[in-house]
Amino acid sequence: MEEIRIGIVGLGRLGRIHAENIALNIPGVSLTAACSVVKEELDYAREILGVEETYISYEDMVNSPNIDAVCIVSPSGFHTEQIRLAMKNNLHVFCEKPIGLEIEDIEKTVEIIDSYPGLVFQLGFMRRYDESYRYAKEMVDSGQLGDLTVIRCYGIDPSSGLESFVKFAGASNSGGLFADMAIHDIDLVRWFTNKEVKRVWALGKNAAYPELDKVNELETGAAMMQLEDKTMALLVSGRNATHGYHVETEIIGTKGMLRIGAAPEKNLVTIYDGNGVTRPTSQHFPERFREAFYNEMGEFASCIQENRNPNVSAYDGLQGTRVAEALQHSIDIQDIVDLHPVSSLK
Ligand code: NAI
Repeated sequence: MEEIRIGIVGLGRLGRIHAENIALNIPGVSLTAACSVVKEELDYAREILGVEETYISYEDMVNSPNIDAVCIVSPSGFHTEQIRLAMKNNLHVFCEKPIGLEIEDIEKTVEIIDSYPGLVFQLGFMRRYDESYRYAKEMVDSGQLGDLTVIRCYGIDPSSGLESFVKFAGASNSGGLFADMAIHDIDLVRWFTNKEVKRVWALGKNAAYPELDKVNELETGAAMMQLEDKTMALLVSGRNATHGYHVETEIIGTKGMLRIGAAPEKNLVTIYDGNGVTRPTSQHFPERFREAFYNEMGEFASCIQENRNPNVSAYDGLQGTRVAEALQHSIDIQDIVDLHPVSSLK
């Protein structure tokens, strides 16, 4: 197949990473168009990445005859509408997580995605493309850990970003701690177990910045979840890791257990000095998941070239957001929440 021409919407924190991978690193694709509401970002796309077409209107971009696919990295509230518009213009879609913020709207979008079986849709659950998570997944699937009993997930952002989060909290709708951050861990739980979440209980505390209470945002949330086969999952999501970017997963089975990212190591260096023996830590998601972002975009390109579906679907996005919504509801009503059995959408 000829080179896949991609248009990207969003060139912010993550958009820039995807844009550089598409433009400079991944074979068989080109970054032909870019859309952003920030002029400097479009200048960067043109001047540094050599993007031929730049847009401030997404609708104009998807009408361009010169693109085959879009990469959606805009704020989460735009995702569903931008997915639908792309599909209606016969474009393959890679979309960042979460797929959307409202269940009904996501359901409608999944139906539209399903009605274009010839187009590839992939959601940005990049941890599925991280080398360590893939290694662990193979161990679990081959039965090396036996039957799974417990999964424990930590996803804690560095406290260096907390001050700006507090400042802008309420200004942009990310969907809250569970829909925005815990969604990765929810997806891992579903992916590792191949089971759906049945019942959840979530709690939260704003210890570092109690003023977050006023804008209904959480600094740290914890949850206990029961899956349909009684496997237990424990989640901690937060924004205040003083040592860096802490993403850790533990899986306990009847024959053994494993941990991924028990310490968020930046590299293989160990320092011996007046502070004792220390390991440098990863400080942000672009550093920790650099290869995963590259791998997932490579997979998107391969799926288009080979006319097959990626491992992560729109349905995974829908289910993840359903669980995230149940966790938020549990916080709101201060009680256990049962998830309704899954609808026929699949
Ligand atoms: P950001 O705020 O840094 O950047 C947003 C970008 O969208 C900017 O380029 C802005 O110009 C553009 N934009 C905003 N409104 C627009 C509109 N109406 N039309 C066209 N462009 C528009 O956002 P960030 O942090 O890069 O997040 C973007 C998405 O990526 C979010 O959905 C977020 O959940 C997801 N994300 C996923 C991560 C992961 O671990 N997979 C990590 C960080 C973000």
